[in-house]
Amino acid sequence: MKHEILFLNQEDVIEAGVLNMGKILELVEKVFYLDGIGQVKNPPKTEMAVPDKDSRQSTFISMPVYIGGDINRAGVKWAAESKANMESGLLPMGIDIVILSDPVTVLPIAILDGLVITAMRTAAAAGVAAKHLARKDSETVGCIGAGIIGRTMIQALKGVLPNIKQFKMFDLKPEKVDNLIKEFEGTGIEIIAAGSVEEAVRDADIVATMTTSKKPFVKGEWIKPGTMVIQMSSYEVEKDVVSKADKLVVDSWAQMKENSDSVLAQMFYSKELDEDDVLHLKDIVSGKKAGRETDDEITMFSSRGMGCLDIMVADYLYKQAIDKGIGQKLNLWEEVKWV
Ligand SMILES: NC(=O)c1ccc[n+]([C@@H]2O[C@H](COP(=O)([O-])OP(=O)(O)OC[C@H]3O[C@@H](n4cnc5c(N)ncnc54)[C@H](O)[C@@H]3O)[C@@H](O)[C@H]2O)c1
Repeated sequence: MKHEILFLNQEDVIEAGVLNMGKILELVEKVFYLDGIGQVKNPPKTEMAVPDKDSRQSTFISMPVYIGGDINRAGVKWAAESKANMESGLLPMGIDIVILSDPVTVLPIAILDGLVITAMRTAAAAGVAAKHLARKDSETVGCIGAGIIGRTMIQALKGVLPNIKQFKMFDLKPEKVDNLIKEFEGTGIEIIAAGSVEEAVRDADIVATMTTSKKPFVKGEWIKPGTMVIQMSSYEVEKDVVSKADKLVVDSWAQMKENSDSVLAQMFYSKELDEDDVLHLKDIVSGKKAGRETDDEITMFSSRGMGCLDIMVADYLYKQAIDKGIGQKLNLWEEVKWV
């Protein structure tokens, strides 16, 4: 008997609803909740640097997942990042696909473009964290990095904190900020260009970094009481930002610890950070641990990215695509051999 796999290219994924940030926030919060109650298997991702870590040109990352509860879906995200693409600007720095499988028969059922899913779910994780860790009356956001995640971060934060009035953005390439200002014109979201990291960060209620920098550039002295700091890459804040945080929250400590170059892992291995002080977002979302408790505390969320977010979103898009008749069918086999 033949078996068909549904292939959803980028246009299909968009037609199936991936750009609906409200929905993505809801799905991401649900999967953190399911993880918090023990319904998710998400082993640390496996990373492979090419040709090697010291002269890295690209990184390939494999992220297998099973989500239980009413989702009952297995899958894997095959992610990749390219230094050449970052330098040329001709292709996205990160390019990913997602494969969904039936958890019983193990048949692959769908292959999806993962680029937009990644951008949406990454910022949505920060949005869910901000819902629990930022001050509800937050009005200003200092954003560093106006790339793909820079764009979705604006949508995610505005989606959970409607009182936000202004995003102050800095990027090493000012034209990227100008492009986002134009893109968001007329949406009611005000973005202004900052002349430096310090100008964007000082006095902001939320600070969000989403750059490809491998060196830290946010200083602790710029962070005022009551701020939430969001770090999307793992290398962007100085150690004193981490030390200043009253609450430090991650998506997966097991993964963060494995990335020995990340600021949190460095602090852990040099005994400047006790892992008992690191909280997981899943425990806050599922009510096991408290989120923000006072207006003055400084909170920080740092993520490395969990495959369960991609599989959760992809499963939703797959079901939408089936309902709406979107996508192309690929035939895995006409007649299976060697049963
Ligand atoms: N945590 C997660 O789940 C997750 C998921 C995807 C991507 N990421 C990370 O998020 C980061 C951003 O990804 P992206 O897809 O938006 O990349 P991108 O290349 O689209 O954008 C990065 C931007 O950062 C800017 N930049 C680099 N160094 C800078 C610096 N020192 N100061 C100011 N701006 C600087 C670049 O000019 C660029 O505009 C990457 O590090 C990526 O690895 C994290």
